[in-house]
Amino acid sequence: MDVLRIEGPVRLSGQVPVNGSKNAALPIMASALLAEGQSSLIGVPDLSDVRVFVELLKHLGCRVERNDQGHMLIDSTVVDNPVGEYEIVRKMRASICILGPLLARCGRAEVSMPGGCAIGDRPINLHVRGLRELGAKIHLKNGYVIAEAPDGLTGASIFLGGSFGSTVLGTANVMMAATLAKGRTMIESAACEPEIADLAHCLNAMGARISGIGSPRLVIEGVSQLHPVEYTVIPDRIEAGTFMVAAAITGGELELINCRLDDMMAVVDRFRSIGVAVEKAGSGCAVARTGPIKPAEITTQPYPGFPTDLQAQFMALLALAEGNSVVIEKIFPDRFMHVAELNRMAADLRKEGPAVVVAGVEKLVAAPVMASDLRASAALVLAGMAAEGTTVINRVYHIDRGYEQIEKRLNPLGAKIYRENA
Ligand code: EPU
Repeated sequence: MDVLRIEGPVRLSGQVPVNGSKNAALPIMASALLAEGQSSLIGVPDLSDVRVFVELLKHLGCRVERNDQGHMLIDSTVVDNPVGEYEIVRKMRASICILGPLLARCGRAEVSMPGGCAIGDRPINLHVRGLRELGAKIHLKNGYVIAEAPDGLTGASIFLGGSFGSTVLGTANVMMAATLAKGRTMIESAACEPEIADLAHCLNAMGARISGIGSPRLVIEGVSQLHPVEYTVIPDRIEAGTFMVAAAITGGELELINCRLDDMMAVVDRFRSIGVAVEKAGSGCAVARTGPIKPAEITTQPYPGFPTDLQAQFMALLALAEGNSVVIEKIFPDRFMHVAELNRMAADLRKEGPAVVVAGVEKLVAAPVMASDLRASAALVLAGMAAEGTTVINRVYHIDRGYEQIEKRLNPLGAKIYRENA
């Protein structure tokens, strides 16, 4: 199994392009199921999660390939096996977002119940509730969600909020299913994340009629069919945020190319409050830190709040602040697997329920550490670049799920990250 060996401390500088968004690309790939024919998606990152999704689409009957320009071609002329097998779904929770499109297209879908993961329980009750409101009959059998709507779906008014607010993939599932339902659907408490807005724009380019995009109230006028599309996925705001932390934690300066700062206002606000300069530049932004890191309070929230997917990376940064910070996790209250690992690197973090008190330390010290999930491993890479000595990160397959060849992206900027087969 591969490990990453990281030598620190380093100071990063230079330009780095931001890839297409993983969390926009996955549901957009699922949306290709709604139209017969070949869609072409531009900017789909080459990640292990994307490769799992390709495997899933192929099992359903689609043909998927990348052309010479790196565009992903999905031919969904044939979808004759509407079953999301356990063996694939267990590898990636996002597989659940085939449920809505399959149901709308085939009148039936069977998708393995995704299990929990390192960041928490991750139920799908809201997905099920929303699809039931559209008229689907849903039951559980042998660990599979069996959804049926042989006579098609019918538009409805649906409240999709839960105890932790809106649901990103739940909104994606219900919105995709509603595009082909008879009549009008209103989703109240819809997720407002830019990735959901991107999916909605893609669906409209396929002939759907969705309004209220980017707001908590989506209105979808059902249409009888959708057509294939050529569509460019938005840049990944979480990858961008991770690069920004990389600049800040190493006291460096980076220019990010292809980054939508307007999708990152909460993150930019926190950076500026701790003494990191972030300014628009060209198609992206410039990030630099020259002075000390100031402490901050960070609370993760649904968009436009601070994203949970950058919580771990920010905690690594605040570990080096001059003073005490508090990080409160309001989306996945157990998403703190990185705390113990960062403490192994001489951070001073204390977990108190869904919050962590971060007492800033003067320096981090390298150690062997274990990656537990995607964003936690990103935090360890960031900490490793700032720490004194050689950090070795085990189980790096977690990072490959969401970052394309992280070492090849960061090394030209001054990082010293080596992938080794242990
Ligand atoms: N929830 C429910 N019931 C549901 C669905 C969700 O109670 O039916 C709860 C969850 O347990 C959580 C909250 O609602 O407390 C929000 O979960 P959400 O459904 O929004 O998460 P998701 O759609 O499964 C996506 C991203 C995650 C990201 C979250 C939150 C994808 C593929 N995944 O997951 O990304 O953390 O939204 O923004 O888009 C990552 O990229 O590292 C990652 C985990």
